[in-house]
Amino acid sequence: MSAIKNVTVIGSGTMGNGICHVFAQHGFNVHMMDIRQEALDKALLTIGKNMDRQVSKGAITQTSKDEAMAHISTFTNMFDAVKDADLVVEAATEDIELKINIFKQLDEHCKPECILASNTSSISITRIGSYTKRPGQVIGMHFFNPVPVMKLIEIINGYGTRAEITDIIFKLAETLGKVPCVVNDYPGFISNRILMPMINEAVLALQEGVAGINEIDSVMKLGMAHPMGPLQLADFIGLDTCYSIMHVLHMGFGNQKYAPATLLANMVQAGYLGVKSGEGFYKYTPGSKDLVVSERFSGKK
Ligand code: 3HC
Repeated sequence: MSAIKNVTVIGSGTMGNGICHVFAQHGFNVHMMDIRQEALDKALLTIGKNMDRQVSKGAITQTSKDEAMAHISTFTNMFDAVKDADLVVEAATEDIELKINIFKQLDEHCKPECILASNTSSISITRIGSYTKRPGQVIGMHFFNPVPVMKLIEIINGYGTRAEITDIIFKLAETLGKVPCVVNDYPGFISNRILMPMINEAVLALQEGVAGINEIDSVMKLGMAHPMGPLQLADFIGLDTCYSIMHVLHMGFGNQKYAPATLLANMVQAGYLGVKSGEGFYKYTPGSKDLVVSERFSGKK
């Protein structure tokens, strides 16, 4: 574990920048890599703002924020980003071909002892590992959004992941102040095998007119003490991500019960992806925390 000092995170989107935030706050040297410098600049701003939020709440000091920010460097070149890495956490888009391509490059450029982790939400770690010459060092390290807040890291053992690697990642998760849970490599692991069918069922209930958005979300918030209703959570995660996870479950188990709801598929096709596109089941106005049901579902359109 003490051998891990340099951590490279591939992808600077919501999950990637949250993962960088947490590693940097715990004293690791973080290399944040993305293909576009603008994405990296935006991610640095987001991390800074999220740390400011922690400073204003008294959770961290201004000095520890400054130290953490100084631990993060940005890269657009894969070789430079990973050549000194002891651990790489891949947090790119949930696309199997993209991930395979990234892992082939990581295997080529990283030191032989470097551990390769994926933050995938549902894609097989065994499959990703099979494209490298080090499947024993490939593991799932699944963080949850917002990464600085959510306590869980779901650790996924691929078929060939070595026990000592699982042990290292388990202890690392604890060092980050998180609670690790180790699971085996089946579609959706545990988290998304249970969460996504619930979200999909909420979309089906809406599609069938069983209830409206506010009613569906209120039932789950007030009746089951969920911090967000399933439709708000779907918007928060991204409807494209929800759709692609349902697709992985559907294909992986070959069971019709995992078929993505048609309404979910239509919304993704039409570009209504939730918070990130400004509209999903709800409409989002920058700077406003109000939860406003999209006009497409409120009968106003
Ligand atoms: N960085 C740092 N701190 C943050 C933050 C961020 N990005 N976002 C929120 N916070 C902090 C706030 O500062 C606040 O801190 P405090 O408790 O010290 O006051 C606390 O989190 C709560 O935030 P807010 O007061 O702004 O808002 P809420 O009380 O409404 O909580 C929430 C927001 C934490 C997002 C809460 O609604 C929640 O837990 N929602 C469910 C999230 C969830 O289920 N995530 C998992 C998604 S699934 C996933 O990621 C896996 C993938 O594979 C699909």
